[in-house]
Amino acid sequence: MTNLTDQERQFLIDVANEARRRAYAPYSNYAVGAALRTKTGRIFTGVNVENAAYPTTMCAERVAVFKAVSEGEREFDVISVVTADGGSPCGGCRQVLAEFGVEIIVLMGNGDGHLVEETTVARLLPGAFTSKSLK
Ligand code: THU
Repeated sequence: MTNLTDQERQFLIDVANEARRRAYAPYSNYAVGAALRTKTGRIFTGVNVENAAYPTTMCAERVAVFKAVSEGEREFDVISVVTADGGSPCGGCRQVLAEFGVEIIVLMGNGDGHLVEETTVARLLPGAFTSKSLK
């Protein structure tokens, strides 16, 4: 598994926090930013994009994953997620991340740019249903 340096952690939190400013969250006012790093070192950001038809809202983490995959990337080592209070990724985002590897490191940061928690998708989604479940 990837060993992150403090500098890498802080950089990923800062990039997600910066992206968070572009969140479109007029209904919840809960802005979320994400920064997903590929194993080749590229970084894809994401923000939550809400909608007046509430269920069509998309989370920041999934925006980052879908941007990356649509640009040809499928291997990720870490994602940082920043909210005002250091909130945790929702179940749907955990599932989408698990599709690309339960070993992906998940950093959670707060609006002050502080790391609140570091974990993995495996720990966030024990017993994940993945492609292996279909074989
Ligand atoms: N949200 C995310 O962007 N990621 C999560 O993992 C949790 C929730 C967004 C969706 C919605 O725009 C707002 O936060 C409140 O649920």
